Amino acid sequence: MQKVAIVGCGYWGMNYVRVFGELPNASIGWICDKDSGRLDIAGRRAPNAARTRDLHDVVADPEVSAVVVATSSATHFEISLEVLRSGKNLLVEKPLTLVSEEARELVEIAERSRLTLMVGHTFLFNAGVQKVKSLLSNDEFGEIYYMHATRTHLGLIRKDVNAIWDLAPHDISIFNYLVGKEPVWVSAVGSRLLQNNREDVGFATIAYPGGILGNIHVSWIDSNKVREVVVVGSKKRIVFNDIDALEKVRIFEKGVTISGEVDSFGEFQLQLRDGDIISPKIEASEPLKVQCQHFLDCVESGATPISDGKNGLAVVRTMVAIEKSLRQHGAPVEL
Ligand SMILES: NC(=O)c1ccc[n+]([C@@H]2O[C@H](COP(=O)([O-])OP(=O)(O)OC[C@H]3O[C@@H](n4cnc5c(N)ncnc54)[C@H](O)[C@@H]3O)[C@@H](O)[C@H]2O)c1
Repeated sequence: MQKVAIVGCGYWGMNYVRVFGELPNASIGWICDKDSGRLDIAGRRAPNAARTRDLHDVVADPEVSAVVVATSSATHFEISLEVLRSGKNLLVEKPLTLVSEEARELVEIAERSRLTLMVGHTFLFNAGVQKVKSLLSNDEFGEIYYMHATRTHLGLIRKDVNAIWDLAPHDISIFNYLVGKEPVWVSAVGSRLLQNNREDVGFATIAYPGGILGNIHVSWIDSNKVREVVVVGSKKRIVFNDIDALEKVRIFEKGVTISGEVDSFGEFQLQLRDGDIISPKIEASEPLKVQCQHFLDCVESGATPISDGKNGLAVVRTMVAIEKSLRQHGAPVEL
């Protein structure tokens, strides 16, 4: 049984309080939030956990083996540093940090101290994304041509980061996972339509080795809620729609084939290919629960998490490049 502490009991942190309360091989030893009102709410869910507004109480408890950090993104580095320096395993929400050097420092400390460092890239534990990954590794899909992700809705409007930092890390983590490589350059533009200090709409293009392109559209001000990733390949097209409970993944077998023969204009002849639309059965599971169980397993076995610190760092590096491109009105920025 692992004694876990949860730091940050806001909107998302409350899900951790619930999930760790349900996992059989964990007990919540501490809940920590600087806001005593949030502590009261979390305390009702975890009545046996000790409560504190001070992180020092958590890291000073020798029985706590793992700490979950679900505070606002701008605080991740400072809190994570203290947790790792105290010798405790760490699961920190995305994005790992807002600065690449800080993310690298956390990765190095965790490696040196042989501690598990995992980032809460929840979508990598989504059964739909896992399905897409397994479909891509099958030769029947062919090669990936490009990917497109849409993540739009009204809010949640955040005060510490813009919509791109808030939402795009999900899609970058999915793209990196599906391609199995890190981006080489990015280009991004955004708008501040609500007249805030932060972009509420963004469009980012992410290029991978081998010419694979990814495109991400995020918005806090679109009344249409979309959570979709499309992968277009040489043989098939796959759509992951997280909102569709019945058909989370659909495979379109229609496509266009290069015949290998050249026409009278010197161009390759193209043939349209007809085919079925298939929606494979996907077992229902809660991604956050799968993620938390994976974290506990990695802490126990010493295995490297699917979303380890290096994955988290790759996402942060991409986000920093996106931010730089945004400030230069979409100029390409190499990673
Ligand atoms: N993986 C996902 O799908 C997902 C979804 C939503 C949010 N998130 C991430 O979770 C994190 C939290 O988001 P949220 O929506 O819960 O925000 P929130 O503002 O609702 O909650 C943050 C909580 O952290 C507390 N806090 C801030 N600084 C603290 C400190 N130094 N010590 C102790 N407590 C502190 C605040 O009082 C607040 O209760 C963010 O990094 C966000 O990106 C991830």
